[in-house]
Order: sequence, then C-alpha cells, then structure tokens
Amino acid sequence: MIEVICGDITTLEVDAIVNAANNSLLGGGGVDGAIHRAAGPQLLAFNRTLGGCKTGEAKLSPGFRLPARHVISTVGPVWHGGGQGERELLESCYVSSLELALANDVRTIAFPAISTGVYGYPRDQAAAIAVRVMRAYEDRFERIVACCFSEADAALYREVLHEHS
Ligand code: APR
Repeated sequence: MIEVICGDITTLEVDAIVNAANNSLLGGGGVDGAIHRAAGPQLLAFNRTLGGCKTGEAKLSPGFRLPARHVISTVGPVWHGGGQGERELLESCYVSSLELALANDVRTIAFPAISTGVYGYPRDQAAAIAVRVMRAYEDRFERIVACCFSEADAALYREVLHEHS
C-alpha cells in the first residue's frame, strides 16, 4: 500500500527511511542533515566505511538512534534542465532503494522527495517518477510511504497517486 504523509521522516517508525544524500554519504543539509542529527554520530562513522555512493545508487546503514531499523542512503541527480539523464538517474534512486530494501527484509519504507530541494528537481516531474516506481513495487511491501515535508508536496503526491490509480 502506498501512503502519502506530511511530516519529518526521522520520526517514522518504519523498517527503513531513505535519505537524499550526496555522493560522500558524510551528511549535509536538508533531509540528510535531519537524518544524521536524529541518528547520531554513529551514522557518520558507519558511512565513512561505505566508500561513498554513486548518483542513482543506494547503500544501507543501521538506523542507530532513529526509530527506523535502517537508513537507505541514495544520491539523486542535480537538475540541469533535464538533458543530462536526470530522469533515469532519479528513477534509479527509487528502484535501487526498493531493491536494496527487498534484499534486507524491509517491509515498510519511507521516502523523502529526492532531489527536489537543494538539487532543484522540478517537484511535479519528480513526484510522477517516484509514484510510478512505487506503484511497480507496491505489492512487494506492506507500506511504502511518501513522506513529504510540506502540505503542497503532499497534495501533489496525492494528485499524482490518484492519476496512477
Ligand atoms: N523529512 C522529510 N523530508 C524532508 C526533511 C525531513 N526532515 N527535511 C527536508 N525534507 C525534504 C525537502 O523539503 C525536499 O522536499 O526533502 C526533500 C529533498 O530535499 P533535500 O534534503 O534538499 O535533498 P536533495 O534535493 O536531494 O539534495 C541533496 O542536499 O542536504 C544536501 O547532503 C545533501 O548534498 C545533498 C543535497
């Protein structure tokens, strides 16, 4: 089942939350900063052992102080106008994260709106990509949560979800 909520992903009691990270996996601002703050310093220490993450790929960490058991860090594309494979890379973030989740017995997972903050991806286009991939994996999870950080984003996701119903 796919759910849309508006809130802080670090508070969610799910098996895994997805982090919109950067290639270093060593923290940053936005949701990345919030997740590192909530997980505590062990997340950074653990991520140092991962050797970074390519754009479009995903890596698994423990959740440490988070309610979530795991953090799945993925690196979204920076938006450069759409002519540099951004769509395929963003789609790959969702697919890689969900495949990694399946390989680790994750049954409930929450995503932020990857790449739509600092990385500037148009929200409507990103939501359509996210929902399409979530629909494709919906039957293999108990819950897939789109955790939006604004009511406007949540409304957008609900609209796109309805179109994909
Ligand atoms: N819970 C859920 N969503 C959040 C939270 C939160 N606590 N904080 C921010 N967001 C939302 C933003 O509002 C946006 O919709 O996450 C979405 C992604 O925005 P960013 O966090 O800016 O991520 P992104 O656009 O993918 O840029 C990644 O930003 O923080 C750095 O280290 C990170 O370099 C990387 C870049």
